[in-house]
Amino acid sequence: MNILNLYFSSTGNTEKVAFRIQDTVRDLGHEVETLKVTSGDMDVDVLKFDFVFVGSGVYGQLPGKPLTELHRRLLQKYNEEGEVKPASPRRPSANVVVYCTYGGVHTGVNEAIPAVKFMGQLYDHLGYNIVGEWYVVGEYKTDRFRDRSIGGRLGDIRGRPNTEDLKEVAEKVKGVFKAYLF
Ligand SMILES: Cc1cc2nc3c(=O)[nH]c(=O)nc-3n(C[C@H](O)[C@H](O)[C@H](O)COP(=O)(O)O)c2cc1C
Repeated sequence: MNILNLYFSSTGNTEKVAFRIQDTVRDLGHEVETLKVTSGDMDVDVLKFDFVFVGSGVYGQLPGKPLTELHRRLLQKYNEEGEVKPASPRRPSANVVVYCTYGGVHTGVNEAIPAVKFMGQLYDHLGYNIVGEWYVVGEYKTDRFRDRSIGGRLGDIRGRPNTEDLKEVAEKVKGVFKAYLF
C-alpha cells in the first residue's frame, strides 16, 4: 500500500492537519510519504499511490496557487499520457481524501467547497474513488486579515484548527481506513 500525504500550506494551518494525518496513519501501522507542495512544477507522480490525502488552505475560494497549478499541470500531463480515459473508469483500489482548511468569513463552508471540488477532480478524472471530503476551520493568520477570525459567518475561529479539530481529523482517518483499507 503506497500512501501519499500531499498538502499546501501558506500560514501553517493545513500543515497541522497534514501532520496529524501522518501521525495517525503511522499509528495505524502504515508508511506514508508526506510532501509539501512548494511550486506547481513539483515532481510528483500521484498515480504511484493507492491512497492519497490532499489538502490546502482556501484562497479566493480555491486551493493555494502552487497546488492549483500542480493539479492543472498533472491533469494535462496524464491526459497526454492517456491515463485520463473517457468516462474515467474506476481504478478499484485507488482512493483519495480531499480536504481544506478555511476561514469562511463571508459565506461559511460554501466558499471552501470550490477548493475541495477542484482538487478532487484531478483524482476523479484518473479514476480514484473520492472517499472523503473534509472541511477543517482555520483561522486567518496574516496581519491584513486577522480580524476576519472574529465576526464572520463562523463566529470566533481564533486558534483553529484546535485540539478538538485535530482529534476529529485523526478519528476520520481511522474511520476511512477501516472502510477502505481492511
Ligand atoms: C489572503 C487570504 C485569503 C483567504 N481566502 C479565503 C477564502 O476565499 N475563503 C475562505 O474560506 N478562507 C479564506 N482564507 C482563510 C484560509 O483559507 C485559512 O486561514 C486557512 O486555514 C489557511 O491555510 P494555510 O495556513 O494552510 O495556508 C484566506 C486567508 C488569507 C490569508
